[in-house]
Amino acid sequence: MKTAGYIGVNVCRFLLGITFIFSGYVKAIDPLGTQYKIADYLAAVNLAGVLPDWITLTASVGVSAVEFSLGIFLLFAIQRRQVSRLVLLFMGVMTLISVWLFLSNPVKDCGCFGDAIHLSNGETLAKNLVLLVAAVVVACRPLCMVRFISKPNQWIATNYTVVFIVVSSLFCLYDLPFFDFRPYHIGADIRKGMEIPAGAPQPKFETTFILSKDGVQREFGLDNYPDSTWAFVNSKTVQTEEGYVPPIHDFAICDGTSGEDLTAQILARKGYSFVLVSPYLEQADDTNFGAIDRIYEYARRENVPMFGLTASRNQAIRRWQELTGAEYPFYTADATTLKTIIRSNPGLILLKNGVVVNKWSHNRLPTEEELNGPLEQLDIGKINPASITEKITMIALWFVLPLLLLTLTDRLWAWTRWMKEKKRRNKIYQLLKKRRKMRKKIVAGNWKMNLNLQEGVALVKELNEALSADQPNCDVIVCTPFIHLATVAGLLNGKPISLGAENCADKEKGAYTGEVSAEMVKSTGAEYVILGHSERRQYYRETPEILKEKVELALKNGLKVIFCIGETLEEREANKQNEVCKAELEGSVFHLSAEEFANVVIAYEPIWAIGTGKTATSDQAEEIHAFIRSAIAEKFGKDVAEQTSILYGGSCKASNAPELFAKPNIDGGLIGGAALKCADFKGIIDAWKK
Ligand code: 13P
Repeated sequence: MKTAGYIGVNVCRFLLGITFIFSGYVKAIDPLGTQYKIADYLAAVNLAGVLPDWITLTASVGVSAVEFSLGIFLLFAIQRRQVSRLVLLFMGVMTLISVWLFLSNPVKDCGCFGDAIHLSNGETLAKNLVLLVAAVVVACRPLCMVRFISKPNQWIATNYTVVFIVVSSLFCLYDLPFFDFRPYHIGADIRKGMEIPAGAPQPKFETTFILSKDGVQREFGLDNYPDSTWAFVNSKTVQTEEGYVPPIHDFAICDGTSGEDLTAQILARKGYSFVLVSPYLEQADDTNFGAIDRIYEYARRENVPMFGLTASRNQAIRRWQELTGAEYPFYTADATTLKTIIRSNPGLILLKNGVVVNKWSHNRLPTEEELNGPLEQLDIGKINPASITEKITMIALWFVLPLLLLTLTDRLWAWTRWMKEKKRRNKIYQLLKKRRKMRKKIVAGNWKMNLNLQEGVALVKELNEALSADQPNCDVIVCTPFIHLATVAGLLNGKPISLGAENCADKEKGAYTGEVSAEMVKSTGAEYVILGHSERRQYYRETPEILKEKVELALKNGLKVIFCIGETLEEREANKQNEVCKAELEGSVFHLSAEEFANVVIAYEPIWAIGTGKTATSDQAEEIHAFIRSAIAEKFGKDVAEQTSILYGGSCKASNAPELFAKPNIDGGLIGGAALKCADFKGIIDAWKK
C-alpha cells in the first residue's frame, strides 16, 4: 500500500514535471507569441490595449519561466512542499480558465503548448483535469517524491534553471524563436501549406428556409421543400462541420493602393525575394534601418526583388519611408498573419520560389560580409541545415548536461558522505562494544543472613550443576556468610562461580572478638567482599570512615571489593540521589589510586528498592549509573570509568533483569532475595544471553 502510494506520487510528479517543462519551454522560446496569446485573453475580457506592451511581454516571459522552473523543480524534487503547493495553485487557476474556455469559447486555442501543439478547448479541459488530479496527489504527499539532488546543492539547480529559461526567452526575443513551430518556418513551401488535399473533408453547411402560407410561417430544409403555394420569407445557413483547414489559410498579399491581390503572383515568382515583414510599422523597431538599407542596396545590386509587408495604413508606410529612406514598395497583409510569419517587428524573410529560405530578426540581419556575392552562392541563400536534432543537442549541452553532471556529482558527494558517516558510526559502535567488553558483566548473589551451612551447600551444588551444563555469559559470584566460605570454596574449585564474603573487619588483626579480618576471608579462597551495604550502614552504623578502613584492608589482602551505594526514598523524592551516591563514593573509595580502584566493583542499590519489590525503572537506573560513571571519570579519568563495572541491586528478578542489563551503563546485578533459589538466580544470569 505504502509502495503503491510512493509509485503513484512519483508517476504524477513526472507527468506534471514533463508537461510543465514542455509547455513552459515552448512558450519561453516564443515570448512574442505568448504575449499575443495574453493579448487574446485580455481582449476576450474586454481589456484589449489596457495593459502596456512591456507588462504583457514581462508577463509572457515570467509565466513561461515559472512554468518551466516548476517542471524542473518537480522533476528533481526541489523544495517539495512549496513546489507541490505552487503547482496545485497553478493547475487550479489553469483548470478554471479552461472551464471558462470550454463553456464560452472566447479564445479558440488555449495556447498551453504555444504553437507546438494545438488543442481544442474540450481537449484542454480534459488535459487540465487530469493534471489537476495529479497535482492534488503530489500536494497531498509531497515528501514521497524521491530526491535526485540533496538539499544543500539544490540552490545550484534552482538558479541555473531560472537563469537558463530567462536567458533563453530574452535570446529568442532578441533573435527569433529557437524552434519555429509555425507553418512559415524555414523550409516551408507556402503554396503547399495552402493546398487542400484531394478528398479532404469539406466544410458542411445546412440551410433552413422560412416560408409562409395563409399567414402561417414554417421552416423547411432542402429535403422537404414544399410546393410553390408557399411563399419565401427568409433563410438561414449554419456550418455543421468544419472541414479540412490547411496549415496556411490566411496568407494574402494585396496592393494597398490598387487593391490588387498579389498573392499568387508573388508566390509564383521564380528566384529569390526579400520580404520585410512588419505587422505594424508604427510599432516597428527602427534602430537597425541602416542594416535594412544595406540589404536593399544589395538586393538592387543583385537584382533580387525586395518589398515590405504590413497591416499599417499608407500614413504609417510613408512615415517609415521618410524615416528610413526606404525605396522598396509596401504591400498589405493581415496583421495576425504577419505576426505568425516572423516574431520580429520588423523581420526579414528570404523567399525562393514561394519557399521560406531564411529568416532574420531586425537585430540579427545579415552583415555586409555575409552578403558578398549572388545569393545562390551564399550560405544565407540556402535552407539552413540546422536540424531539430542539432538544436536539441545544443539544449542538451547547455542545460541537460550541466544538470546531469550536477546530479552525478551530488550523488557521488552524498554517497561519500554516507560512507563516511557509516564508517564513523561503525567506529563508535566498535568502540562502545570494545569498552563494554572491557568491563566485566557480573551477576552476584548476596545471601545475607538466610541459609544455614547445609542449605548453602545444597544451593551451591545445584548452581554448580546448572551453570556447568549451561555456561553463563557473565561472571557469577556468590557472596555468603563467613561460615559457608571455606566449604563453598572447596565445592567451587574450577567451576564458573566466584566466591565472596558479605563483610570483613575494619581492623587488621588482634583482640577483636567475633570479627573476621580481610586476610581470614582471603584465606578461605574467597575473591570478593561486599562492603558499604546499606543494611550494614543502617543497622551496624558503619560510617564512611569505617568503610574506608575496610576497603583498604580488603584491597591490601588481595580481595576485590563490591562497594554498595544508594539513596533512601526521602532522598530520591528530594532528588538528591546523585549527591548522596557521589558523597558515599567520596567518603570511602575516591581516595584510592586508579590501580587500587581497578579492583572495585560499584553496586548501586537504592534503599527503597531493596527487598521491597519496587525496582527502579531501567531508565531511572541507567540515568544514575551514567552519573556514577561520570563521577568516576571525573575522579580517575575516562579509561578507569569505562572499565569499572557498575551493578544494579534492589528487587532485581529474572523478569526485569533483561531490560535493566540492556542499558549501556548497567553491567549486571547484585541480587538479594532472588539469589536464594537456583532457578531464580539462573534466570537472572541468563538475562545476559538475551
Ligand atoms: P533484593 O534483591 O532482595 O531486593 O536485595 C538486594 C540487595 O540488597 C543485594 O545486596
